[in-house]
Amino acid sequence: MTELNRQITLLSRPAGRPCEANFRLVESPLPTPGQGQVLVRNHWLSLDPYMRGRMMDVRNYAPPVGIGEVMVGDTAGEVILSHHPDFRPGDRVVGALGWQRYGVAEGEALRKVDAERIPLSVHLGAAGMPGVTAYVGLTDLCAAKAGETVVVTAAAGAVGSVAGQLARLRGCTVVGVAGGAAKCRHVVEALGFHDCVDYKAPELRRRLKAALPNGVDCLFDNVGGEVLDALLGRLNPFSRVTLCGAISEVDNPSPHGVRRLLPLIVNRVRVQGFIVGDHRARWAAAIDELSGHVASGRIRCHETVAEGLAAAPAAFLDLLAGRSLGKQLVRLE
Ligand SMILES: NC(=O)c1ccc[n+]([C@@H]2O[C@H](COP(=O)([O-])OP(=O)(O)OC[C@H]3O[C@@H](n4cnc5c(N)ncnc54)[C@H](OP(=O)(O)O)[C@@H]3O)[C@@H](O)[C@H]2O)c1
Repeated sequence: MTELNRQITLLSRPAGRPCEANFRLVESPLPTPGQGQVLVRNHWLSLDPYMRGRMMDVRNYAPPVGIGEVMVGDTAGEVILSHHPDFRPGDRVVGALGWQRYGVAEGEALRKVDAERIPLSVHLGAAGMPGVTAYVGLTDLCAAKAGETVVVTAAAGAVGSVAGQLARLRGCTVVGVAGGAAKCRHVVEALGFHDCVDYKAPELRRRLKAALPNGVDCLFDNVGGEVLDALLGRLNPFSRVTLCGAISEVDNPSPHGVRRLLPLIVNRVRVQGFIVGDHRARWAAAIDELSGHVASGRIRCHETVAEGLAAAPAAFLDLLAGRSLGKQLVRLE
């Protein structure tokens, strides 16, 4: 094959907010799969907030991307050449092949997916890592039950939109928190949440109190900071807080943080952080249930799509800044 691969590598680590100059688009020969390996042409690249952490050389749950290395990322694509008995050309697969057009992976690191039941891109969103995150956080950790009140922050995003819709399907009253009136409208009208509070409008605490007359039994938090702190004051006795993400703290040199711990003690609240990769045993069940909900229309998934690999850095910055709605993807040319 004479076709070249196109990749986006990390050129430099950000000092403060990341910018497009931290990335570089390069061309290289197509990789050749060895024994047990598979060559995949990626059709979709998933952009996710965790990539911001991988740009930094600091202690984290996973190692950083090295300078000059291809940016990490989940991809969905098509097998081109296989030296693994379980894969054949044309198979649709999901893997972590990074920000590039083609990639080689061990067969064991790829997951065959059904792109007939639901579109291939959804295997990176509602029926992929973000969906499983929502499922594990809500079902296993928050253990949300019918009749309870669930609050989900970053409610219009990839994880939050699924967490809230799952909670609604479980019979809960679901209140979202999102940035801006348009996102809140989407959360209620398109996703079916019962209510949504715009955290960017004034008097957040008063409006949270009004939207939550029965308090909060399960808080699925994606943002941390001031929004989390305000919500802790609304928790019911024996409520659960699932700490999924703290995106408000990522580029904030002096994050707001949690100001008062006493309400957590008085209300005997269980607070748990988690990383979805630690819950591999739950992935198959989660993906099966979520795929069914998407296929039947019970869970709706909105995608924001950037066109072409070169658009990935700008789309990633949009994701971090809240300019995307639902799952942020890149369609690879
Ligand atoms: N623990 C895990 O295993 C795991 C797995 C996946 C994701 N996560 C975390 O889950 C969270 C959501 O991920 P996602 O992929 O679904 O992203 P996302 O919600 O689709 O996109 C991020 C959203 O964060 C919001 N945001 C940005 N800055 C904010 C700020 N200063 N304060 C409040 N909200 C802010 C924006 O929404 P608004 O416009 O509403 O502000 C933005 O759309 C992230 O924190 C991510 O790190 C954790």
